[in-house]
Amino acid sequence: MSFKTFKLISALVFLTFKRGVATEDSSGTVPSFSSIAEALGYDCIVHTITTKDGYILTLFNIPGNKTRPIFFMHGFGDSSRTFIVRGNTSMLVSVAKAGYDVWAGNMRGNEYSRDHVTLNADIDVAAYWNFSYHEVGVYDLPAQIDYILNKTQQNRLSVISHSQGSAVFFVLLSTYPEYNEKIRPLITLGPLSYAQNIRPPVRLLILIAPVLEVIFKALNQYELFDRTTRLIVELLCSLRPFGGELCEAILLSTAGQSDDTFKGGFIRTVINYYPVSTSVKNSLHVAQNSNSRRFAQYDYGPAANIARYGNALPPAYDLSKVNCSVAILMAKNDKLSPIEDNSLSRNVDSGQYRSTTMGSTEVDNGQYRRKQWALPK
Ligand SMILES: *[C@@H]1O[C@H](CO)[C@@H](O)[C@H](O)[C@H]1NC(C)=O
Ligand SMILES: *[C@@H]1O[C@H](CO)[C@@H](O)[C@H](O)[C@H]1NC(C)=O
Ligand SMILES: *[C@@H]1O[C@H](CO)[C@@H](O)[C@H](O)[C@H]1NC(C)=O
Ligand SMILES: *[C@@H]1O[C@H](CO)[C@@H](O)[C@H](O)[C@H]1NC(C)=O
Ligand SMILES: *[C@@H]1O[C@H](CO)[C@@H](O)[C@H](O)[C@H]1NC(C)=O
Repeated sequence: MSFKTFKLISALVFLTFKRGVATEDSSGTVPSFSSIAEALGYDCIVHTITTKDGYILTLFNIPGNKTRPIFFMHGFGDSSRTFIVRGNTSMLVSVAKAGYDVWAGNMRGNEYSRDHVTLNADIDVAAYWNFSYHEVGVYDLPAQIDYILNKTQQNRLSVISHSQGSAVFFVLLSTYPEYNEKIRPLITLGPLSYAQNIRPPVRLLILIAPVLEVIFKALNQYELFDRTTRLIVELLCSLRPFGGELCEAILLSTAGQSDDTFKGGFIRTVINYYPVSTSVKNSLHVAQNSNSRRFAQYDYGPAANIARYGNALPPAYDLSKVNCSVAILMAKNDKLSPIEDNSLSRNVDSGQYRSTTMGSTEVDNGQYRRKQWALPK
């Protein structure tokens, strides 16, 4: 059976089951970022910007006091929707209520940033999905930050970033250190960088990543969590009687156990929109960092590395260049952003993060206590 046939069959199976469960449970779809914002009574302005390498990104703005711009950046396989999906108890909404000019960015390839000036994400698959978080850091972030600073006529903005949304800032700030001047502060929630202490079961996927790479290539599959994957996830998770419990258990065992505030209703909402598309190359890059125990650029193999970087090993990101105020908020139960990995990235002795002037804090579960971190008024 070819992969295309497999996709078609899965889609049909999905549609059949979906109709079956729809009468019982109609709360299946999670509204878009703008719909949630508007339902809560906020204006949401949709901006479209183009990066230097042609990717077309969506940036949402909930207007507030223009002198206080704040930029949210989501993590791996995610979108800006993650910051608003809890409705009026979402962190992003609290920040909007407090009067900030809120901007929610989207990485290339996700549900809001699938366009390109010349490439088609569904047809030119090898070329379109030829990026990892490196390109997000060096192209997507500067495009979005400069756009916001121009629109607000400010020199600086505040940032709240989650998971890989922080890794892309470390890439930007070490590659183009002048951006340190444009950010105050950078608040990272469960940041991803070294990734070498990621716990099972994701750890196991990382170890077999070289094999998965060969399989994905053979299948001509460059997009991760594409529409078919989403359909399968939604199908499995909506199967009665235990599909929901199963998906909840998988998500919690992957990311880390949580207290009851995350279980039940809300986690089902998360499953209904997460994960969304990213590139296979992005996940391979994370696996390379983890397996090589280096937070470094993409490894194309010794010969290609020499041609590209002038060295058999890809260059490491120089975190000592990250000298804006960085706050690290990490959770003891976080299996994807373990405290050991964050300790590596903020180890001052090894020249990393010269000024984490805001320090770091550890909490017992995934509920970061935002109020501890003062944003500039
Ligand atoms: C959120 O909205 C609900 C109803 O829309 C309301 O009952 C609740 O008080 C609101 N919560 C906050 C924190 O504003
Ligand atoms: C992907 O990007 C790399 C590095 O820029 C380049 O060498 C390679 O040819 C690209 N592959 C495709 C299919 O565009
Ligand atoms: C800032 O925005 C204005 C119009 O919105 C545009 O004409 C100008 O080129 C922008 N400047 C930069 C540096 O992007
Ligand atoms: C960060 O480093 C740059 C370049 O060395 C320097 O000009 C700047 O003053 C530093 N900023 C802080 C806050 O230390
Ligand atoms: C916007 O924020 C600045 C800086 O905190 C403050 O001085 C100003 O009064 C605020 N403007 C409005 C309209 O609230």
